[in-house]
This record gives sequence, C-alpha cells and structure tokens, in this order.
Amino acid sequence: MFKVKQLAVGGFDHNFSYLVVAENGDAVLIDPTGDVETIRAAVAAAGAITPRWILLTHGHLDHWEALGEAQIFFAAPVAAHPCCQAEAGHRLRNGEKLPFGDGFIEAIFTPGHSRDSVCYRLSDDSALFTGDTLFVGCVGFCRSKEMFDSLTRRIIPLNDNLMVYSGHDYGSVPCRTLGEEKRSNPYLRCPSLEDFKQEMKKLV
Ligand SMILES: [Fe+2]
Repeated sequence: MFKVKQLAVGGFDHNFSYLVVAENGDAVLIDPTGDVETIRAAVAAAGAITPRWILLTHGHLDHWEALGEAQIFFAAPVAAHPCCQAEAGHRLRNGEKLPFGDGFIEAIFTPGHSRDSVCYRLSDDSALFTGDTLFVGCVGFCRSKEMFDSLTRRIIPLNDNLMVYSGHDYGSVPCRTLGEEKRSNPYLRCPSLEDFKQEMKKLV
C-alpha cells in the first residue's frame, strides 16, 4: 500500500508536486517545484521516511524548479528520461521498474507533450503520475502524432482503477481515475489520429 500526498505548490501555473510513501517508509518525491515550504512541511509530516527517489515527469523547468532546494531535505537520486535537461543521475529506460516499498514504480515513456515525458505507475495500480501528458479532462499541449500514439498504446491499456495525478490542477477536480478519464476525456476517446488532431485544435 502506498500513500499519495498531492501538493498544490502554486508555481508556474497551478502546479502539483507529489510525495508518495510506502508502508515500510520508502518515499519518492515527484516534480519538486513551486512553494518549497509546502513540500518541506509534507516531508516533515510524513515522519520517519527513507527518501528513495526524486522522479521528474519531464524537463520543462516549471516541474523541477525546486529540485535543488528539495534535495537538501529529501536526499535521494534524481531519475528522469535520458533526454531530460535537468541534472539527473539516473537515466531511465522505458518500462524500468524502480524498487519501492514492497513493490515498484514503473517508468512509462509517453513522448508527445515533450520528447522526454515519463508517466510513473505504482505497482499496486493505485496511482499514475502523468505530468503534462494527461490532465483531468484534457492533455498537455503537443504538435505531433507521438501524443496520440503514447495515449493509445501506453495509457489507455492501463488499469481503470489508477488514480490519475497530473502536473497541473487544470480539471474540474484535482484528480480522478483513469477509468473516468477514458469515459469522459475527449482526448482519450478519439478513434483515429485525424479525430485527435481535430480535438487538439481546441487547445491552441
Ligand atoms: Fe510541460
């Protein structure tokens, strides 16, 4: 079992950072950004934890601008996509499973919004951290067909029970399940690339 803390850190535009704690105290911090005091307070409130990883969903600065400060109180290696411009000691492979608690966190490469976009799935299928790939009711801005491929091949096949935790608070609610997204997010309901492109025009 994993506990997820969704942290409304402000930042560039209603950004979220996440603290995830496993039953044995293993902890990961995802996209440290915005108000570092909010992150610090969440880490302190979590009690006796063992920082395992800082995970980045992609290299856009608004998702890791508090990285340096966060490493002072959450000392853990940084993992990111090989193309990510942020300083990351661990360069992920698609499908890589990082040991975490009594399970793992899977890195799923989802190029589209950026070429270095990564989603992270908890092994018990309780949560999916999507960065700017998938928002509640929407997707991250993109120009290429890569996003359509990532969504159809790598996101839609995943378990409906996953809670989608995205990088910005852009939806009607801060988070909801992937099953709900599949039912009501128009970008997950496009039967073809052409339909997807039509839908994308609404984002411009
Ligand atoms: Fe972004």
